[in-house]
Amino acid sequence: MTNFEQVCQYNFPTVIRFGKGAILELGPHLKEQGVTRPLVVTDPGIVGLDFFVEIINELKERGLTPSVFHEISKNPVKSDVHSGQKAYVTGKCDSIVGVGGGAGMDVARSIAVLVNHDGDLFKYEDGVGDHLVTNEIPYMVMVPTTAGTGSEVGRSAVIADDQTHQKKIIFHPNLLAKRVFADPMLSMGLPRDITAATGMDALVHNIEAYLAKGFHPMCDGIALEGIRLAGESIAVAVNAPDLVSRSKMLIASLMGAVAFQKGLGVIHSVAHSLSAHFDLHHGLANAVMLPYGLKFNAEVCEDRIETIGSVLGIKDANVEKVAKYFFDLNNDLGIPTNLSAFNIGDGDVDKLAETALADPCHPSNPREVGLEDFKEIFINSL
Ligand SMILES: [Fe+2]
Repeated sequence: MTNFEQVCQYNFPTVIRFGKGAILELGPHLKEQGVTRPLVVTDPGIVGLDFFVEIINELKERGLTPSVFHEISKNPVKSDVHSGQKAYVTGKCDSIVGVGGGAGMDVARSIAVLVNHDGDLFKYEDGVGDHLVTNEIPYMVMVPTTAGTGSEVGRSAVIADDQTHQKKIIFHPNLLAKRVFADPMLSMGLPRDITAATGMDALVHNIEAYLAKGFHPMCDGIALEGIRLAGESIAVAVNAPDLVSRSKMLIASLMGAVAFQKGLGVIHSVAHSLSAHFDLHHGLANAVMLPYGLKFNAEVCEDRIETIGSVLGIKDANVEKVAKYFFDLNNDLGIPTNLSAFNIGDGDVDKLAETALADPCHPSNPREVGLEDFKEIFINSL
């Protein structure tokens, strides 16, 4: 139920330069801002790719002096960030450029905190010490290379403890990138399975944002258009990628991340649990669980699920038809349609449900979710 006596906040602040060739604006933009020694943060998988080498060469040709930092873990840990801060000092850097998927951008954003703040990174954890982030954050821009997390328009980072692997959130409004250079050409060479998994993450962000509780018509509008763009382009981007499909997926992923300031839901909670216990790729887990999550939510938001169906071009859309659409889509993308494909069985349901219940995403789900509900969702998806 909408409460019009409540004050809401709507926030769409990032400058996004989107389109083929946007990356060529990076060097001139940094110079315009008066910074010439960026620390370019990326992951080991990207650092050797042609487009990354070209980005660095282009910056040098423009008279800039970039330092590259790429020693980061697949799931970034605190020591990665502290090493990056040292690289910033050694390179006498004056700005930060995050290049990559979520990992590179999370580390870039966390290094930005440590540049002018002493001590251990976790001192500044969200809800614990974020009020201690009072000094200047260096000029920071982001360059996405996958169409998935949409982290480039976010203001938080997830970093794990090296020993316990416990994940902590670093969040501050000043960690928002000053500018995003979203160039679809950078995602052109992405492998098929990564395109499928990250693309489904983007689609699920839009879907869960649209279904999330709360009155946010601006996010709803963005999410529905994001669903439409992802729906009409994901199969092409995976199976026969071209500029049009890559462009639509890239903007859909940005739109998903903008829209989920409204909230996410039950699908992300079960996906997080599957990644924690079985190391499943985040987007892959979301893709598998999407139809099951929608069926669970149907009793409280049937009309919204039907709207999603009509946006996807499903004739006389209803919940069953929408769920079938996503089972078929997963088949088309080479993604399994149940958890048995990952050797997950009845004996795993209790621990999966407990971890999902502790996840922070489901409080914004349109239907309240308890432990027994989570067990039911997992059992249905075996
Ligand atoms: Fe996600």
